[in-house]
Amino acid sequence: MADDHTKVQEFFGARAAGWDSRFPDDGPAYAAAVADLDLRPGDRVLDAGCGTGRALEPLRAAVGPRGSVVGVDLTPEMLHEAARAGRGRSGLLVLGDVGRLPLRSGSLDAVFGAGLISHLPDPAENLRELGRVVRPGGALALFHPIGRAALAARHGRTITDDDLRAETNLRPLLAGSGWRLTSYTDRDDRFLALAVRETGS
Ligand SMILES: C[S@@+](CC[C@H](N)C(=O)[O-])C[C@H]1O[C@@H](n2cnc3c(N)ncnc32)[C@H](O)[C@@H]1O
Repeated sequence: MADDHTKVQEFFGARAAGWDSRFPDDGPAYAAAVADLDLRPGDRVLDAGCGTGRALEPLRAAVGPRGSVVGVDLTPEMLHEAARAGRGRSGLLVLGDVGRLPLRSGSLDAVFGAGLISHLPDPAENLRELGRVVRPGGALALFHPIGRAALAARHGRTITDDDLRAETNLRPLLAGSGWRLTSYTDRDDRFLALAVRETGS
């Protein structure tokens, strides 16, 4: 596990400085995905693996000044860039592991996770931890600004059936971790899986 975390930190640490300039046009896609989370003023939301904090501003806009927004990330350099870009004004930036969150059980209304799930060392266990901190009936959004096929093509690959984010894999994975998949979109300009936290799991 420590090795997995070190690899993540090395990978994203080396890319943090140029992260936002690599994807300058993603803002509207993030705002639209946040809108689909159906947050209300006063809600408490976590951006899991927040990176440079690209989702923090739309999340803050959705929950308003009475709500709370927390961004957790494992890579100090990503959080440094988030702070440098002033995103700490929209949410609290916390260095940490989404697999061991420093948050009380049931203390949140929703979790937003962009580009996160493929980097988790134990997705089932880590999704369960995300479920622990969300109240029953709360929401999860797993998002990417491009779909699976487009992302694979960007990396010179094609998608395979064992991809964690394929609907046939993701639905049972979420179910085993206390989440029910309620909506699934995978097209070139958007990947968005929405789930609701099951009662009593
Ligand atoms: C592809 S980047 C996406 C960053 C940001 N969400 C965005 O959309 O720009 C994945 C991020 O997840 C973070 N990450 C990976 N594993 C993590 C973990 N176990 N706990 C917290 N953050 C993690 C990485 O450090 C990295 O910043």
